[in-house]
Amino acid sequence: MVAQPGWEGGTTRRIVIGVGGGIAAYKSCQLVRYFRELGHHVVVIPTESALNFVGKATFEALSGNPVATDVFSDVPSVRHVNLGKNADLVVVAPATADLLARMAQGRADDLLTTTLLTARCPVLLAPAMHTEMWQHPATVRNVTTLRGDGLVVMPPAEGRLTGSDSGAGRLPEADEIGRLGELLLADPDSLPQDLVGLKVLVTAGGTREELDPVRFLGNRSSGKQGQALAAVAAARGARVTLVSAATKIPNPAAVETVHVDSAREMGQVLLDRAPGFDVVIKAAAVADFRPEKVSESKMKKGSDSEPEAIRLVRNPDLLAGLVEARRNGGIPEATTLVGFAAETGDAHGSVLDHGRAKLRRKGCDLLVVNKVGRTEAFGTDTNSGWILRRTGGETAVPVSGKYAVASRILDAVVLLREEDGNGREPAEATTSGAQWPAEATTSGAQ
Ligand code: CTP
Repeated sequence: MVAQPGWEGGTTRRIVIGVGGGIAAYKSCQLVRYFRELGHHVVVIPTESALNFVGKATFEALSGNPVATDVFSDVPSVRHVNLGKNADLVVVAPATADLLARMAQGRADDLLTTTLLTARCPVLLAPAMHTEMWQHPATVRNVTTLRGDGLVVMPPAEGRLTGSDSGAGRLPEADEIGRLGELLLADPDSLPQDLVGLKVLVTAGGTREELDPVRFLGNRSSGKQGQALAAVAAARGARVTLVSAATKIPNPAAVETVHVDSAREMGQVLLDRAPGFDVVIKAAAVADFRPEKVSESKMKKGSDSEPEAIRLVRNPDLLAGLVEARRNGGIPEATTLVGFAAETGDAHGSVLDHGRAKLRRKGCDLLVVNKVGRTEAFGTDTNSGWILRRTGGETAVPVSGKYAVASRILDAVVLLREEDGNGREPAEATTSGAQWPAEATTSGAQ
């Protein structure tokens, strides 16, 4: 590849990191490092006011490239045009209220805004500002304009702001922004702003069923696929709630997170919250059984007695309960319900055979079938499988990063809702409120 002016020596993916003048500018240093560690070529373009927060030397040292803010530095290389034209990705973090306003107007009064106007690659904006500014009608209007222009706007996180105040407006952590950037590098069409106005609930992780105060029955789910779904749905414009059970990685900062432990706790949250959502995605690995008795004190091994058998009872099937609640009018008819099937395949059928049977059994709109095993899917950063539709049609998902798989699942949700109004056949009855099917009392002991 011929090195482009402004991309001296660049042979890998070319990333521009724009930095607005806000206190969160310091986090952009971690973002530069994130992309550099992946081997990418990074050029930082701060605004003049960003340099009040982080010095030019810091950005130059971290990126390994010269830093300028105006269009009159290094004129012969036409940097104000070439940086944008030749970039594979532009990320602006933090995108301040002022920068959003200038971009929405198509201003070109510094190197960052000229670069943004010439860029033909995906542009990812990570806004950060005070809550009042973020919620101001002018900013809301600017964000709508920018999304309409094809830019990706991440929602800011809620939390502590510059002073003692807190609210929506924090810059998400660098690796959250970086993972979405990587997704855009792999597939520029993976973050369309097509979930704006929708509320999406995602369950993630593996539930834990208590045995005594220190022990539980659990499973290998890391929660990564559910968290990727929450992060990608939020970056596509949805308002997202993540119901998270025993996940091992930090939850996305820009989504509301409700922590639960057991299947029944998750069920209660779903009963309370699901009616307010347009889409419910059940990525969590929910325990089918729980110990019949929970010991109030730690179970002791005793001296020479045989260990006691643990008797299990069945947990409610939360996904089936949601389908039934929708049929009964407990949750709106228009809610799209997505289930997951974790399958290993066995003597009775392949992974896909079990998935098809599960879709018929569960009655949800989409079922994502994953092949799982001790070293497959659980805890890894990749996933693969099929997306099955209740109305027919199966899409194979090749081995890809969990963010990319999340994007394919959300594509299927959007398509289904577009094709069928709300993605499913009309409900048969609308009578009672939401409740889970009666729990069976016992099942096999173990
Ligand atoms: N699920 C649920 N409640 C349960 C068990 C599972 O809501 N008690 C949901 C999961 O969140 C997932 C889907 O059902 O979306 C399928 O989960 P899976 O463990 O693959 O299937 P099971 O229904 O448990 O069936 P089996 O264990 O027989 O394969």
